[in-house]
Amino acid sequence: MKINNIYLEDVFDFLKKVDNESIDLAIIDPPYNQKIDDWDTFKSEKKYFDFTYKWLDLTIDKLKPNGSLYIFNNTYNSAFILTYLVSKGLLFKNWIVWYKKDGFSPSRRKFVNNQEVILFFTKGEKYTFNYNDVRVPYLSTSRINAAKKTGILKNGKRWFPNENGRLCPDVWEIPSVRLTEKVNGKTIKTLHPTPKPESMIERMIKASSNPGDLVLDLFSGSGTTAYVAKQLDRNFIGCENNLDYFEYIQERLRDEKE
Ligand SMILES: C[S@@+](CC[C@H](N)C(=O)[O-])C[C@H]1O[C@@H](n2cnc3c(N)ncnc32)[C@H](O)[C@@H]1O
Repeated sequence: MKINNIYLEDVFDFLKKVDNESIDLAIIDPPYNQKIDDWDTFKSEKKYFDFTYKWLDLTIDKLKPNGSLYIFNNTYNSAFILTYLVSKGLLFKNWIVWYKKDGFSPSRRKFVNNQEVILFFTKGEKYTFNYNDVRVPYLSTSRINAAKKTGILKNGKRWFPNENGRLCPDVWEIPSVRLTEKVNGKTIKTLHPTPKPESMIERMIKASSNPGDLVLDLFSGSGTTAYVAKQLDRNFIGCENNLDYFEYIQERLRDEKE
């Protein structure tokens, strides 16, 4: 198959053609069955999970023995997906909470839902994890500034802060992508209803792959994963079955190349 290409294809037709054990990193943002669009609407919960487990099974075969897998979803579905992946022998690494501080989903019968989940699994234990490439700023600057000079005594050893920041935690506070944009002074809706923030995808790609690795972008949507992979000198391959979104991806990737 041609790499650095997004195919206009249904996920199952596409996956049949991808070589087994060829993918270093899969970043998958599938339908959630939240009925935000036709592609996100399934007749029953059973039909949704039959679909989900089917593409998961195929994806597992495509991962290299030390490949990594990140899967987006809501909290409820993620609980089932986690159990399924464990039953398939994949190794659980993190339940990452994407804390959408700016999210708006009012609810007066339960707590307001302000998060999405990203499950991080690997196939084997010798997986890539570039923790130094995804450090984040320390929270307490005054304490850190003091520690830079003299260090902090911890278990008999002096600890000095890392100049690139602290190790990345599993709660990610990243603003959602705005779903409207101004064109010629008019506010219009963006083409895709659920684009993911580039900075979030960047963190996954930097942590779990190296330049030249192959990244799988299964339900490509607006092509965020492919776009960021290209920027970070990773290869990518993926599919999207909606023609409008597909054409948008082609344009986005073309702009990136130029
Ligand atoms: C949640 S969106 C992905 C958004 C993407 N992460 C982004 O940043 O733009 C899921 C996408 O999967 C596509 N899709 C749904 N069912 C599909 C299928 N069976 N085969 C291929 N693509 C499908 C939808 O058209 C939608 O664009």
